[in-house]
Amino acid sequence: MIKPVVFKKTLEGKSNANLITFSDGRDYVVKFFQQGFEKTLANEWVAYCLARYLGLPVPYARLVEIPQEFSSKVPELAQMSVTQYQFASVYVPDSFDGHQVTSIGKMTNHHSLAAIIVFDYWLSNRDRTRKNILLHEEEPNGYHLWIIDQAEIFGSYNWNLAEIENLPAEIMKSATHQIMASFIEDEQDFFEQIEIIQTLPIHLLEEIVALIPDDWEVTREERKALVSALVTRRKKILPELMHRFIKKIYRQLQVKEK
Ligand SMILES: Nc1ncnc2c1ncn2[C@@H]1O[C@H](COP(=O)(O)OP(=O)(O)OP(=O)(O)O)[C@@H](O)[C@H]1O
Ligand SMILES: [Mg+2]
Repeated sequence: MIKPVVFKKTLEGKSNANLITFSDGRDYVVKFFQQGFEKTLANEWVAYCLARYLGLPVPYARLVEIPQEFSSKVPELAQMSVTQYQFASVYVPDSFDGHQVTSIGKMTNHHSLAAIIVFDYWLSNRDRTRKNILLHEEEPNGYHLWIIDQAEIFGSYNWNLAEIENLPAEIMKSATHQIMASFIEDEQDFFEQIEIIQTLPIHLLEEIVALIPDDWEVTREERKALVSALVTRRKKILPELMHRFIKKIYRQLQVKEK
């Protein structure tokens, strides 16, 4: 397993994510377990595994261990709780968030954009803000979009059993989804993604959830509820939501552009 080598800084935001260089020579954004934000790490893990399987543009991530002998020498980490594993995603250098880039000529990975919106609705991610995408300029005024920060899927970073059994089925206000939608060329992209999600093997969903580390405080009951939320939502709720999104948001943007 890779080992932490140099602590660089704590990043802005409520997760208190830390930028740390590891023994593989790469910089990772590391999130620790925090009281009050108990489901952050489990949410990140589940979303990451699904996003990776679906081929979405999510930075490569893994579980890491931060030994006591490392964190005890870093004042910023001294207060952090000591679960065995932390969630680490590779830092994307030279990128901007959605506030920093005011005009985008082209999205170089526009084929992934509908897939991201469908994914956010499937998982009930209410936090796709402009801060939770990264834009990397690959050609003049042409950006590759990455998704980061899946800490608030399933409605929140500290959901409970009752909440996960009753996730919202409403259109979410997200300026970022609108920006993404304006670059989607074919409505069919949405339907293709729904079908891919509907045909993911249930065993894969179960396995991803089973691999949530034990000390991240997700009970057996909650794990079952997670899988069932994923399975229930993809059947009827997701297609209905996407039909509404296409009608209310996607098509309106297309009309405006013409
Ligand atoms: N993989 C990454 N590459 C580059 N920068 C990143 C990456 N992950 C996170 N960041 C930066 O760190 C900030 C905090 O990370 P993140 O959004 O995951 O956590 P957060 O603290 O929960 O944020 P928020 O308070 O917006 O919910 C991001 O806004 C971004 O600027
Ligand atoms: Mg964020």
